Amino acid sequence: MPVTDEEASRGQTMISRLVVAEPELVERLSARLEVVEKRLFQCVNEAYDPFVAETVGHLIAAGGKRMRPLLALVAAEFGETPGRDGVEAAVVSELIHVASLYHDDVMDNAYVRHGVASANAKWDNTVAVRAGNWLLSRAARLVAALGADAVRLQAHASDRLVEGQMRELLGPGDDEDRLAHYFRVISDKSASLLSLALRIGAMDGGAAPETMETLAAYGEHLGVAFQISDDLLDISSSSERLGKEQGKDLAVGVASLPILLALADTRPQARELRALLSSGPLADAEDRRRALALLNASPAMAEARAMMDEHLARAASLVADLPDRPATKVLLAFCTFVASRTE
Ligand code: IPE
Ligand code: IPE
Ligand code: MG
Ligand code: MG
Repeated sequence: MPVTDEEASRGQTMISRLVVAEPELVERLSARLEVVEKRLFQCVNEAYDPFVAETVGHLIAAGGKRMRPLLALVAAEFGETPGRDGVEAAVVSELIHVASLYHDDVMDNAYVRHGVASANAKWDNTVAVRAGNWLLSRAARLVAALGADAVRLQAHASDRLVEGQMRELLGPGDDEDRLAHYFRVISDKSASLLSLALRIGAMDGGAAPETMETLAAYGEHLGVAFQISDDLLDISSSSERLGKEQGKDLAVGVASLPILLALADTRPQARELRALLSSGPLADAEDRRRALALLNASPAMAEARAMMDEHLARAASLVADLPDRPATKVLLAFCTFVASRTE
């Protein structure tokens, strides 16, 4: 049965649905995720000003699947250092992720996130941007405890995230292939952070360098697939299930994968959809409703899903290169989870 984002909220339910592994491992990950949850709120409550604590805690308290922290904890399972559990890496990953959501909601002028008012809607853009900045600073402080290599990796992932968003905003160059541009964008804006979570989780756990590299490569493919699943859900799911507005990509004119594929469909029966999608951001709710209906009926959805599956298969194949530990099953279950989101 597919796991909805709502069911997967805060990671614990996600663990129970994901983990097809030894009960001991399930218990360990679940207990560590609880520690991560406490540490996140500890960070929030360390803000000197109650208003800052309220704003930076807003989206953390509202929910989220905690996928990146869980990936960091699972990666730490491949380490060789007893007593190192990946919790700090997990906290860092979620702080960066939540910060990126504050900033992304400003960029997209989004009203809803995690089923509640986004920070920019509840307060305003300046508050939301500063809350995101505060969370990034807090992450930077924590990552320093993991050592200079972790700091470098975190900085690199943050560069990629921002550059990916910037490149998305700019769109492809005149001679640039639109799909190649799209894959570069999502690899940088989304996969970079999943990959970082795995890499610093593995580093925190004391994993061998080649194990770390394999986990990071797995994260790149899982991350690309995950963003494609998010693009598909933007079209096929409901605002209630998503906890964010359906059709947002159409509303702001983001050329997501199904949209690009529909634009490339030259058949006469695809003409109406092509015309709608070529007309720029669909500000009108009726235009959006029509475009969503046509997109959901278009072969572009299955084509996008097939591309997602390719990346999931590549992620899964990398798992075979890892040391044989119970945690490999969790990594494979993550692939199944991403695929099942859009079923
Ligand atoms: C949303 O990520 C942003 C993307 C990279 C698509 P998540 O779906 O993991 O966010 P949560 O679970 O709501 O925190
Ligand atoms: C956002 O991608 C990736 C980030 C860097 C936050 P989306 O714009 O698709 O994420 P949602 O759909 O708003 O969660
Ligand atoms: Mg967005
Ligand atoms: Mg999206």
